[in-house]
Amino acid sequence: MPIPRVLGVLISGRGSNLKAIIDAIADGRLDARIAVVISNIAEAPGLAHARTAGIDTVILSHRDYASREDYDRALVKELKDRGVGIVCLAGFMRLLSPVFVDAYPARILNIHPSLLPKYPGLHPQQQALDDGATASGATVHFVNKELDAGPIVMQDTVPVVPGDSAETLAARILEVEHWLYPQAIAAVLNAD
Ligand code: GRF
Repeated sequence: MPIPRVLGVLISGRGSNLKAIIDAIADGRLDARIAVVISNIAEAPGLAHARTAGIDTVILSHRDYASREDYDRALVKELKDRGVGIVCLAGFMRLLSPVFVDAYPARILNIHPSLLPKYPGLHPQQQALDDGATASGATVHFVNKELDAGPIVMQDTVPVVPGDSAETLAARILEVEHWLYPQAIAAVLNAD
């Protein structure tokens, strides 16, 4: 059965990748709809992008749940209740438990600002600089039970230039993220 072209986007912060997905849908580059944007942080600035676009938002604070599994069950319920077929993590700063991963097998995507498997985890841009890398990039991958280690859907390279700071490199990578993520979502939907 084809994956429903219904997205649930999870954020914790700025939401520029969420905005990029909203824009890609609006101009026909991505044939899908976002049923809900969920944030674990009530003040996440990215929620404004959803509200402006008239997309349902849900705040679920992990602090209100006794365990990671209980929290993940609540997330999954919100997503399943809305018929979400693909979950897109877009700067969602929570690790997913097996409860979540097993509820959406091969149906959860994440974007990470490095060429995975290089520089997983936190501060990947600083990791690239510390490593003396001459290039880094962005990766969209399926989420499995290991951090930043699921099968890669799409990635693209970005040069590291002399004098780069973590911030300048992050900004250069982010430009790539914004077209890569919608394209990778489309590829996953079209492959099914
Ligand atoms: C992006 O760099 C993404 O790759 C990483 O977190 C950042 C989120 O940025 N996972 P934004 O909230 O989408 O602007």
